[in-house]
Amino acid sequence: MSAKKYFITGGAGFIGSNFILFLLRKYRDIRIVNFDNLTYAGNLQNLAAVENDPRYSFYKGNICDTITVGTVLADFRPDYLVNFAAESHVDRSIESPDIFVTSNIQGTQNLLKAALQYGVEKYLQISTDEVYGSLGKTGYFTESTPLKPRSPYSASKAGADLLTQAYFHTFDLPVNITRCSNNYGRFQFPEKLIPLTILHCLQGKKIPVYGDGKNIRDWIHVDDHCSAIDSVLSKGVPGEVYNIGSDNERSNIEIVKSIIRIVGEFRKDPVVSDALIHFVEDRKGHDRRYAIDATKIHKELNWCPSVAFETGLKETIAWYLENPGWLDSIVSKEYLSYYQKVYGMR
Ligand code: NAD
Ligand code: DAU
Repeated sequence: MSAKKYFITGGAGFIGSNFILFLLRKYRDIRIVNFDNLTYAGNLQNLAAVENDPRYSFYKGNICDTITVGTVLADFRPDYLVNFAAESHVDRSIESPDIFVTSNIQGTQNLLKAALQYGVEKYLQISTDEVYGSLGKTGYFTESTPLKPRSPYSASKAGADLLTQAYFHTFDLPVNITRCSNNYGRFQFPEKLIPLTILHCLQGKKIPVYGDGKNIRDWIHVDDHCSAIDSVLSKGVPGEVYNIGSDNERSNIEIVKSIIRIVGEFRKDPVVSDALIHFVEDRKGHDRRYAIDATKIHKELNWCPSVAFETGLKETIAWYLENPGWLDSIVSKEYLSYYQKVYGMR
């Protein structure tokens, strides 16, 4: 069998970079092109360990740029196109929705069109459980739950999902869509709840908890998300949607208190205490609860998560504590010159 070729968009972000590292660890004989335009969330430091690996190359480009996407695909001819590239932060979508529509919808349309033109074996759209909207105290999101997005971010992701399904039905493009719950792990940008709380513990800064802190998210370790994506790529039935989750519902306040406790155990610093918790004004349109039913991927693709939440959270916190340079470079914006250095060499 010839080496599989992966065209991965958004591979310099949190989940994309973890997925590239996962693939390079798991498969010896593969080729990867990471196509990313390095927004504030793209960080090539995440991939420093593999930047000289001959199986991997980076291309700085925007998924909305038809000509560049076409040129790279015509040259690389991938088997798989995996689209992680997106504006991913709900709060930013409330402040500035336009770029979410451009990157998440127009960008996806561009990739679908190119995937069709260059005949990929599989197009995989990385989506989110947020497209289903918000749950009350009971119930779960299944793949047949109607789409009811409530933020500009989730509406743009739902739009991309619908386009992806349209390319399957109208043009027979072999697609899958994955809808995963909240990820945590190494390399997550510190605007998201878990790394932001860790950072504020380390800086002794107030930790902003939105509303009453009782909103619920369903957490999964990024390595489990990566192994699920790998299963969907190789075994997913074309046209199908697969939910991905790990049965880990926690309220935000529970998460924040757990992080304070674990950082406190590592650091033995009296400043790291519940006194840092600061309840602030709620997020506009804040979804109350997410909870994924992942029965379909368990039964049909034989995939199961393997990271227990308590272990995963402790390891994640340890990673941030052991890699202060990673956080500092983001906070100090020095990472911009790192990009310049790396990109300037290519
Ligand atoms: P992220 O913000 O960390 O990374 C996004 C990456 O996409 C960055 O490297 C950025 O530079 C790149 N990008 C953005 N716009 C681009 C464009 N126009 N052209 C090329 N590259 C572009 O995001 P993440 O948390 O790693 O999420 C990755 C994907 O997974 C997103 O599609 C997101 O919707 C989805 N998702 C995320 C989660 C989560 O918990 N983080 C859960 C489910 C699904
Ligand atoms: O469910 C999957 C989604 O999870 C992904 O599609 C998104 O890309 C990803 O950003 C994430 O969205 P959330 O909005 O759930 O993640 P965030 O980390 O921003 O917030 C998690 C919860 O914590 C949410 O209820 C809001 C709350 N929160 C968040 C921040 C940043 C706070 O209370 N305080 C904060 O400072």
